[in-house]
Amino acid sequence: MVALDIRGFRFSLDGISIRRCGIEDIGGVIGVNRRTLPENYSTSLFLAMLRRFRDIFFVAVDISQDSIIGYCMNKLEYNTKSFFAAKKVTKGHVFSIGVLHEYRRRGIASALMVVSLKHMFMLGASEIFLEVRVSNTPAQNLYNKFGFEVVMRVPRYYADGEDAYVMAVPRERIESLIDELYLRLRELGVLEE
Ligand code: ACO
Ligand code: ZN
Repeated sequence: MVALDIRGFRFSLDGISIRRCGIEDIGGVIGVNRRTLPENYSTSLFLAMLRRFRDIFFVAVDISQDSIIGYCMNKLEYNTKSFFAAKKVTKGHVFSIGVLHEYRRRGIASALMVVSLKHMFMLGASEIFLEVRVSNTPAQNLYNKFGFEVVMRVPRYYADGEDAYVMAVPRERIESLIDELYLRLRELGVLEE
């Protein structure tokens, strides 16, 4: 596994702010989703996620343009089977994350993951998981940096027939990394809270 080390993260976030998604941001989030992913959820799905999980729905904003350039939409799943032990746990589910092409490789998705995981831990998640296309190595690399491992392969998970990897990480493995990175983002002035 890749070493879980804050030194592996280089942030280049001048002019970028990370904050919670508001109702007025949903149009921007949908715009980013349409331009970054084939999984294009309905407006009502985004609104329902915002209503239910507002505390863990984050956007990245280009301050000079006042425009949404990335998002991370998450949910909590209670009393579900652990990926790592024979018990029921609360899981954080990274439901969808995307960053506009022209803003990539600056650490924006990493920053969105840090705030998302930090807040899901604060809300009681003891594991985090997500689904990712088996062909999506950029995203898998991102998740590997956060200590995620493949726990399952789901055949034909996506509408076009592609398989998904389910990737997951237990809280103990990354909590201190997330805390360090969260402080770093604070120091950089990226977090609007
Ligand atoms: N090739 C290889 N590795 C990559 C790439 C790439 N093109 N992009 C990111 N990574 C990995 C690298 O390890 C990178 O660290 P490094 O730059 O130090 O090498 C690490 O991810 C972190 O990169 P960030 O800059 O934080 O990520 P970025 O802001 O560029 O966004 C993302 C990554 C979200 C995957 C972006 O490429 C994207 O929007 N892709 C299309 C949408 C998508 O695939 N979303 C994920 C679907 S799965 C889900 O939503 C649960
Ligand atoms: Zn999912």
